[in-house]
Amino acid sequence: MSVRVPTTTMAMPQRPQTNDIGSPALPLPIPKEVSPPACDDCQRLQTEMAANPGGPKMNTTGWILLGITGGSAVALTVLCGPFVTPALRKVCLPYVPATTAQVENVFTALKGRSGSLVDIGSGDGRIVYAGAQRGFRAHGIELNPWLVLFAQLRARRWGLNRSATFARQDLWQSDLRHFDNVVIFGVQEMMPQLEAKLDRELSVKSCVVACRFPFPNWKPINVVGEGIDTVWLYRPKT
Ligand SMILES: C[S@@+](CC[C@H](N)C(=O)[O-])C[C@H]1O[C@@H](n2cnc3c(N)ncnc32)[C@H](O)[C@@H]1O
Repeated sequence: MSVRVPTTTMAMPQRPQTNDIGSPALPLPIPKEVSPPACDDCQRLQTEMAANPGGPKMNTTGWILLGITGGSAVALTVLCGPFVTPALRKVCLPYVPATTAQVENVFTALKGRSGSLVDIGSGDGRIVYAGAQRGFRAHGIELNPWLVLFAQLRARRWGLNRSATFARQDLWQSDLRHFDNVVIFGVQEMMPQLEAKLDRELSVKSCVVACRFPFPNWKPINVVGEGIDTVWLYRPKT
């Protein structure tokens, strides 16, 4: 006979609940609803926020000021962009106007010459005007649209718009074979590449004047002036 041992469910002693650091957890205080601050300004702001959650509306003066600031920024970018972008090209040819002595030296070098003349990278048009005034059919090729517009307007004002013309064009993409006289005020790095282009395109009757920087291989037939105003005259095909 088996003896049944009465089973009793023994309650296991419960461990007191602890927090992260092992001490008995205390009940957290239940936050009470925060009542709105009573100050006048706070209430006025709260009402304004409720009526217009995006903040106070901009008044007319604000819109005008915003328009002027934004408009000026856009206008400055559009105006200055063409003067800055040459720095981003493979050959950086910035706008540096020829000095009066330099212009004089160009036409001393071209003394006795006539026909058509092109200034490649004509800037504000000073070499083109000087050419037109000396009887050349003078043309300027320029990348900067503002300088082209300025040169065209000034040619019209001075009554030179028939003999001094301008076009917005890239000198590297321009066909120069129809010009009797070519003037370049460039930079040293571009001269080898330009020499090769002119060698391909110019005819036997053409002359080239280089200002400030000579061509690397051609032999000049005349050198006029000194220092930064020096110009070199070439007959590439002779
Ligand atoms: C050193 S400035 C000479 C300006 C003018 N010939 C003079 O003597 O007063 C060079 C000019 O070439 C322009 N230029 C630069 N890159 C050009 C390009 N790829 N095609 C045509 N003009 C360019 C510039 O904007 C600048 O006006």
